[in-house]
This record gives sequence, structure tokens and C-alpha cells, in this order.
Amino acid sequence: MPWVVREAVRDVNRAVGRRWHAIDPLLPDPGTLPTGCGEPLVVSGDNGRLAGLGVCVHQHIPPQSLNQTWGAADRFTLVPRLPGQDIAAAADQLLTQWRDHLGGVGATRGPDTSASVVWPSLDITGVQALLRHGLQPLTVIAARTRPNGPPAPPRRAYGVTIRSAGPADEEPVLDLELRLIRYDMHFGGPVWRTATAKLVRDEIRDSLARPDSWTWLAERNGQAVGLLVAQPPQEAGWIAGMTSKTPAAYLQTMFVEGQERGTGIGAALVRNLHARLDGMGVAVTLLHHSQVNPLSAPFWYRMGYRPLWTSWEARPANALR
Ligand SMILES: CC(C)(COP(=O)(O)OP(=O)(O)OC[C@H]1O[C@@H](n2cnc3c(N)ncnc32)[C@H](O)[C@@H]1OP(=O)(O)O)[C@@H](O)C(=O)NCCC(=O)NCCS
Repeated sequence: MPWVVREAVRDVNRAVGRRWHAIDPLLPDPGTLPTGCGEPLVVSGDNGRLAGLGVCVHQHIPPQSLNQTWGAADRFTLVPRLPGQDIAAAADQLLTQWRDHLGGVGATRGPDTSASVVWPSLDITGVQALLRHGLQPLTVIAARTRPNGPPAPPRRAYGVTIRSAGPADEEPVLDLELRLIRYDMHFGGPVWRTATAKLVRDEIRDSLARPDSWTWLAERNGQAVGLLVAQPPQEAGWIAGMTSKTPAAYLQTMFVEGQERGTGIGAALVRNLHARLDGMGVAVTLLHHSQVNPLSAPFWYRMGYRPLWTSWEARPANALR
């Protein structure tokens, strides 16, 4: 990248950082733009001034990766940097350019493709442009910050015990994990793949083999009725850059058996985790939930989480308008 362009990118990033921090202090500084599939898309404003940049990243997720279960096999992601006042107009221009760019990429025509943009949830200025271009708010990264007071003691659900899972619990953990994936599939996020069950089993086996697995089961009369899996900060580095607070942990899986819901089991599992995280001084806990899952958003917001990033998606990718 020539020096002048690098300078311009740095200025845009600084201005975007100022905007983001004014909107939501939990947003991080914008990272350096990733290397995209070609030259950055450039939005020009009045008087030819630079009004924004965007980079398009193409990703093929192979079938042997569990990541393929979490979305389309071919993903086209726009990383936007819009610094100015008139975000709505700049977003519209950028999305138009991106649509035209993807129109020339043959791979976007397949059924197993997606086009997505991750947008700060509290930045409402671009929402109309995102909707107008055919993008849907599919997934939210929600965040909970550590409360200032002393850690709340874990609350227990009546007749239910919570315990750490170990290698002998592979079957019940797998069963609850797979039921969660099938449940979440109703909301257009995960895709069931030939290898899904095997890859989930492999991941569970690896994590349960660790001395401290960060996997908890809720049991009633010896039967597993709830599951929570989390990643402590040392494993959550892959998502920690999505927030300004550090250290960050990640809450990966949460599921309560259908007939047991609404009786306090989910809250007991989450409070057990929070007591541990708060005690360790973890500043923020992140999680993904489907925007349209009618059970998860009310539950998470009751547990102290709030939206941080929203992933807007068109699936297949050529549904982008
Ligand atoms: C989300 C889920 C884990 C919640 O577990 P749960 O055991 O039913 O939740 P609890 O009974 O402990 O509820 C805790 C609190 O949240 C509230 N709450 C839970 N679900 C709610 C809902 N759908 N709407 C409104 N409030 C809800 C409860 O009223 C309770 O409030 P209180 O503290 O004032 O009593 C459970 O519904 C579930 O497994 N859903 C399917 C899988 C899923 O969506 N997982 C999350 C994926 S991100």
C-alpha cells in the first residue's frame, strides 16, 4: 500500500475510533484493515473527500472444520470503516460498490454462500442502508461487564445440582450440544453438515480431557438437564479484540432441556459461571446469540448482557441487493 494511502487509512481509522467510543465505550479501537480480495472499496464524499473505506474478505470453510456448521461454506465479509457525519449515505454507497464487486465473483452464486457485515449494535445510523441492501440482522455478540460490587453468590435451582463435567460425561454433553445446534438452526444461523456430530464429539472429547474443562452440567435425579460451556480469557483470545475491556471470557454454549425451562436452571448455571469469572477479575464476558431466537435474548438481557455487535447477513450471498 503506498504511503499516502496508508496515511489516509490511518486517519479514517482514528476518526472511526472516535465515533465508536462516543457510541459505545465497550467497542474496541478499529483494528488495521485486513488484506482483502483486492483494492479497498473507496467512498468519496463532498469535495472529493474520503468518506469511507471497505475491504471485502473471501473465506472458504472446509467441510472438515466445525466452523462450517456455524454458517455458509463460502463467506464474503465486508469490513467497513465509515468515519464521517453522514453514515447513512456513505454506508449506502459502500454497500452498492460491494454488491457490484460481488456480482463479478462467480463463487457468490452458489447456494452455500453468505455476504455479511458486522456492525456496532448501538450504531443505528447504518441500519436503513443495511436493510435496503437485503441484509438481515442474524446474530448478536452480547456483552456483560463485571459488576462493581462483591461477586453475587451462585443461586441454586430447587432439586438441581450443578457440577463440572469430565471425560465420563461425553454422551450427555454431546446430546445437549447437538440439541442446541438443531434448535438454533430454526433461526438461519448454523447448518447441519455430514461431519457435524463427529466434529462436535471430537471437540467435546478434547475439552473434557482437560483438568479444568469449563463445562458444567445441571442434573436432576442424576439426569443431565442443562449444559453450559465457557472459555476462560486464555482461550477466548479469538474474540477478545471485539471489545475494549480486558480480560474477556466467552460463553460458548447454553442449553436447558425443554420441559425444565423457566424453572431457574439456566440462571443457576450462568450465576455459577459469573461468580467464578467475577472472582477471577474477568472484565467482560461475550457470547453469540441469534437475534430472532425468542428464548435467548430475553434470558441473556435478564442475566446482565446487552448487544455489542450485530452480524448482518444475506444468504445466499447473491441475495445482497
Ligand atoms: C435460554 C435458556 C437457556 C434459558 O434457560 P431457563 O432455565 O429457561 O432460564 P431460567 O428459568 O433460569 O430464567 C432465568 C430468568 O430469565 C427469565 N427468562 C428466561 N427465559 C425467558 C424468556 N424466554 N422470556 C422472558 N424471560 C425469560 C426468567 O423469567 C428468569 O427471570 P427471573 O430471574 O426474574 O426469575 C433456555 O430457554 C434454553 O435452553 N433455550 C433453548 C436454547 C437456547 O436458546 N440457548 C441459548 C442460545 S444463545
